[in-house]
Amino acid sequence: MNDPASRIMARCVELRGISADPTAYSRHYLTAEHRAAATLVTGWMRAAGMAARLDAAGNVVGRYEGERPAAAALLLGSHLDTVRDGGTYDGQLGVVTAIEVVQALSDSGQRLGCAIEIYAFADEEGVRFSSGYIGSGLVACGETGVALNAHDAGGTTFAEALAAFGLNPARLAEARRRPEEALAYLELHIEQGPVLEAEGLAVGTVTSITGQSRLAATVAGVAGHAGTVPMTLRKDALAAAAEAILTVERVARSNPGVVGTVGIVGAGPGAVNVIPGQARFTVDLRSGIDARRQRALADVLTGFRTIAERRGVAITWDVRVDAPATPCDPHLMTLIDRACAAETGRAFRLPSGAGHDAAEMAALCPSAMIFLRCRDGISHNPAESITPEDAAAGLRTLARAVQMVAADPPRRG
Ligand code: GLV
Ligand code: MN
Ligand code: MN
Repeated sequence: MNDPASRIMARCVELRGISADPTAYSRHYLTAEHRAAATLVTGWMRAAGMAARLDAAGNVVGRYEGERPAAAALLLGSHLDTVRDGGTYDGQLGVVTAIEVVQALSDSGQRLGCAIEIYAFADEEGVRFSSGYIGSGLVACGETGVALNAHDAGGTTFAEALAAFGLNPARLAEARRRPEEALAYLELHIEQGPVLEAEGLAVGTVTSITGQSRLAATVAGVAGHAGTVPMTLRKDALAAAAEAILTVERVARSNPGVVGTVGIVGAGPGAVNVIPGQARFTVDLRSGIDARRQRALADVLTGFRTIAERRGVAITWDVRVDAPATPCDPHLMTLIDRACAAETGRAFRLPSGAGHDAAEMAALCPSAMIFLRCRDGISHNPAESITPEDAAAGLRTLARAVQMVAADPPRRG
């Protein structure tokens, strides 16, 4: 398996084998599966001629030196965590393709005017703590919206999960990089939508990344007997959550350009004959226009307050992501246009409705993305699929973009 595209495909499949659930591909932050995937990727980076380490946040970082030691680096990367029952390429494609870019340089003994570093981010999806961007947020800003005492669904706090993984909660911010260390960040990712396929193009240039708000909400009502408490005297936490969930849908539907999702719902104590005393749910609200997202969020929260008051329950929430819409860097987009056009004969630009680590990395350095076609635009679904030919096209495009950025890095103001 010496051809790089076959290796990319095989490595994605190999990573898919590292799952918390053998029937539903799931790999989350600070778990045994995170550790196993990080170990595997560290080995691939070292085999490609890189020095590789785990940083204070649990990200894997590989470095390939440039012509001069300790030079600033062009950063490449994407994420290693998955959603629950996810696809084979979301995130990891960008990591394994970046490793192939370095493998080719090291095979030919080529050093660039800058170093290359590859980040395999530990938590982009935010599944475990209903958050997002923990890995790249710590690298770019030294902080995350998740408090150390925030719980996962099993009741483990973020601090406990870090310690169990062997990381020090007090030293998380040491993952942060200084702007002078980073020339730029480039990320290759599957499109997760149908646009490139409809255009007949393997690759395209991303213009911007959606803004997102994510909340973890809890409802406190009163548990009681399902047979004895009259309907008018109940404080049913799950019924209140159901109304809140429909409020998220109604607000998103009535605000063009906004999408809203409740992906997790839970209720307790959990018996057929007990009125639920507590409920919890998540909210994911997005728009490419921040003012619309903020207005929709305000409307959702007003709705929650009204529901709580009318039903006599308490609804509280914790904002775990408040990420603005992020434009990609114009200079990098021009170079990526050229790299894509050399591959497909036509530069094509499109925005991203999905979140990506590049959105966080833009706070550290100029950042941009290449999208790769995926079948039927399906993602966050085990049916996610790409072709080996497109993997090869993505690799050539990323490799070209790396050479172009190394030769003509963005100027910082
Ligand atoms: C990441 O995949 C996201 O957009 O939620
Ligand atoms: Mn994803
Ligand atoms: Mn992704």
